[in-house]
Amino acid sequence: MTASQADQGVPLFSEADLDAMIVEINSGRSVPEARDIATQIREFHGWTLNKLDVFENYLKMYRRVAGGGTYIDAFAGTGKGRLVKNGQSTVRDGSSLIASKSGAFSALHLIEKDKGNFELLDAEVKALGPRQSSKIHIYHNDCNSIISELLGSNELDRDKPCFALLDQESTQLDWSTIQKLAHWKTYEPPPIDSGRPKKCKVELWILFNSHQAMSRLWPHDRDRFPESFSPQTLDRVFGSREAWWELWEGRKSFRKLIERFTEQLRCLGYQYVLPQLIKDPITSRPQYHMIHATDHPSAVSFMRWAKRSTDGFENQQFPGMETSA
Ligand SMILES: C[S@@+](CC[C@H](N)C(=O)[O-])C[C@H]1O[C@@H](n2cnc3c(N)ncnc32)[C@H](O)[C@@H]1O
Repeated sequence: MTASQADQGVPLFSEADLDAMIVEINSGRSVPEARDIATQIREFHGWTLNKLDVFENYLKMYRRVAGGGTYIDAFAGTGKGRLVKNGQSTVRDGSSLIASKSGAFSALHLIEKDKGNFELLDAEVKALGPRQSSKIHIYHNDCNSIISELLGSNELDRDKPCFALLDQESTQLDWSTIQKLAHWKTYEPPPIDSGRPKKCKVELWILFNSHQAMSRLWPHDRDRFPESFSPQTLDRVFGSREAWWELWEGRKSFRKLIERFTEQLRCLGYQYVLPQLIKDPITSRPQYHMIHATDHPSAVSFMRWAKRSTDGFENQQFPGMETSA
């Protein structure tokens, strides 16, 4: 595809291409995984990709295998996002509109705390027209309380797939919210080793603000910046003091926090937890991690495909990756 076709919105792949790719991806022998979390974090080194492009591509695949389920956008924003390409910044659909237009979900729950952003989002949802907007529920409140209420109500269908995008700006997401999402549905393993799971927990794609918020909360020079350390925030983000205290006492780098957070997600029972460092497309400086937690091997493969097929991805083999035969 040429650059001008891309600018005109010509789809990257036809419906038939996508179907063929799903068959190809699903017939792959197994999902490659790094030897351990530290290796995985180091070796999945930075991508200068745009997470919204990845998300849009991912949903094209997702729609075909897990379509018709529930979408939760905990930090829905205004409906619009920023795309940086070749040093130019343009406005494009944000996560909530991408999901709403994808056709991948039968019910969408969009949560936005800021009043101005909520009003813009509300207008964008209404502009979609009744066929799409009738599936969408929007909430003007804190996502931690709304998600807790939603999961406790009978509104969501436990028998259908559920995808939660947790795209926070900083450290607004409570660990207790992640726990509630992870415990809401249980993983049921496949009947045979090579099969697909019978049931999966809520799939999560989480922004962990490793290099901005966390580096500030965890000052390298503790004597110079005593104020920036916030134990209360870390307790909320990690769920308890025990979860991070020994790292602080051991004077570990803030980079260890991403490992700890990933380990905690694994302890919630997710079969795959894949953190990905995202770099600024202009400066190439590390920004944050996007962490994908899922029980379904196809979800991992589709996310990899979505990243590879996204403009800006440094398209290379993952060094150190091992495929277990
Ligand atoms: C990074 S932006 C989200 C961008 C969005 N995912 C997109 O792709 O367009 C984070 C949004 O979360 C909102 N927000 C911040 N704290 C929140 C909370 N506790 N609950 C819900 N929304 C919150 C902010 O107002 C902001 O609009």
